[in-house]
Amino acid sequence: MDKRDFLKKAALMTSATILPSATWAFSSADKLRTAHIGVGGMGMEDLKSISAHSAVEVTALCDVDANNLAAAQKMFPKARVYTDYRVLLKEMNDAIDAVVVSTPDHTHAPASMMAMEMNKAVYCQKPLTHHVSEARAMNQMAKDRNLTTQMGIQVHSFYDYKLGTALIQSGIIGKVKTVRAWSPKNWGTDGPQPMGSDPVPSTLDWNLWLGTSADRPFKEGVYHPGNWRKLLDHGCGTLGDMGVHIFDTPYNALALDVPFTIKNKCRKPTGFGFPENNIVTYRFPETEYTTKKFKWVWYDGPGAPKNHKDLRLPNKEELPDQGAMFIGEKGSLLLPHFMQLPKLIVKGKYVDIDLSKFSDVGSPTKDYGKESNKHYHQFVDACLGKDECSAPFSYAARLTETILLGVIAGRFPNKTLHWNNETSKFDEEEANQFLEGDYRDF
Ligand SMILES: NC(=O)c1ccc[n+]([C@@H]2O[C@H](COP(=O)([O-])OP(=O)(O)OC[C@H]3O[C@@H](n4cnc5c(N)ncnc54)[C@H](O)[C@@H]3O)[C@@H](O)[C@H]2O)c1
Repeated sequence: MDKRDFLKKAALMTSATILPSATWAFSSADKLRTAHIGVGGMGMEDLKSISAHSAVEVTALCDVDANNLAAAQKMFPKARVYTDYRVLLKEMNDAIDAVVVSTPDHTHAPASMMAMEMNKAVYCQKPLTHHVSEARAMNQMAKDRNLTTQMGIQVHSFYDYKLGTALIQSGIIGKVKTVRAWSPKNWGTDGPQPMGSDPVPSTLDWNLWLGTSADRPFKEGVYHPGNWRKLLDHGCGTLGDMGVHIFDTPYNALALDVPFTIKNKCRKPTGFGFPENNIVTYRFPETEYTTKKFKWVWYDGPGAPKNHKDLRLPNKEELPDQGAMFIGEKGSLLLPHFMQLPKLIVKGKYVDIDLSKFSDVGSPTKDYGKESNKHYHQFVDACLGKDECSAPFSYAARLTETILLGVIAGRFPNKTLHWNNETSKFDEEEANQFLEGDYRDF
């Protein structure tokens, strides 16, 4: 089934009145009624952070895992509970204003698109989508309906990252020639495909977990919870996972659009999981903050990053576990991931940064609790007309597309792929098949 059929069917199923956004309004001007799809793992963090806003009324909860649903229900006993997000949207259409999608990646677009079809504001976890075509469709839908949207990259609203953006845009290191970013996390799998099947736990609705993805037998410890991110059909590997956070500040600060070439140095495809180690090189069109030949290099997996002269720190210090290094014409800026201030390096030495010049982005803080709610509450306030989202789908879709192009390049190890932003196709025809996926009827 393609996306259009899926939405047509969803619309029939919900039989909802689709209001043009101009006539759509929240039931009450000062309360935001939320529905949460996926409330285990990060979904629980999303639920806690969104509901910490005094204007939020948690109205509906949905999870395919009965244990996770029960834990969330305990916190919000008045909320209606569901295992199927399609039924939730159908039954609760008039009782919800905003939907939070915190499922595995393959369900982001199907659930978010259905909610947006019903004119709901959407907070969707990162990466925005599993496929490039979905990212473009979500961006278009949000634009056409003028919906309030935010991608779940909460560090986007943290002080250290906003400072990083302000520093780069102030020209503190001149125009940026290269960004090298890394995460040693291992959201890949180089081993053989697990064979056989295990009984589905009585607390899990496996058909609904699979959703629009291909049917397959359940296997303990391979998919749910969390390990789906290692697998082609459900996640996006370490690049799609950590890359969205770590590349967000460079992407934003350098005002990048989508790249024109992408090359991934990794092992041969197995058709099942993502490579455990990837070195991905992107080239982008020049912007006002970059040199002409700007490139971004991403290193992931055990042992990442590879030793490189650009990554040597003063006093032979060790690199932070994860982060990004901007290499400019006048120096370098290190942005550790996360809760650490950026560090300026000039001619092999650290140089103090006068933070008072950048006071409009806030002041240094180590209070994670306070920082972590900002991004969520910005979304809530934006829904209530009191703020603007800083990572709406118009931004998130381009960032996600960029990341996913590198993920696709992992299917063609060491080959340079050429991306055409106008046609949204690769010049290499064989790569275009990975831009979208089939939706299973479930
Ligand atoms: N922003 C961040 O810092 C951050 C951190 C971790 C994860 N994430 C993102 O959050 C999402 C979830 O990741 P996770 O680590 O929590 O995964 P997880 O597997 O631990 O949890 C997913 C939850 O969604 C539920 N679920 C699965 N399919 C569902 C469906 N069709 N309908 C309703 N519920 C469903 C699962 O039962 C589970 O409770 C991913 O997109 C991931 O990239 C973001």
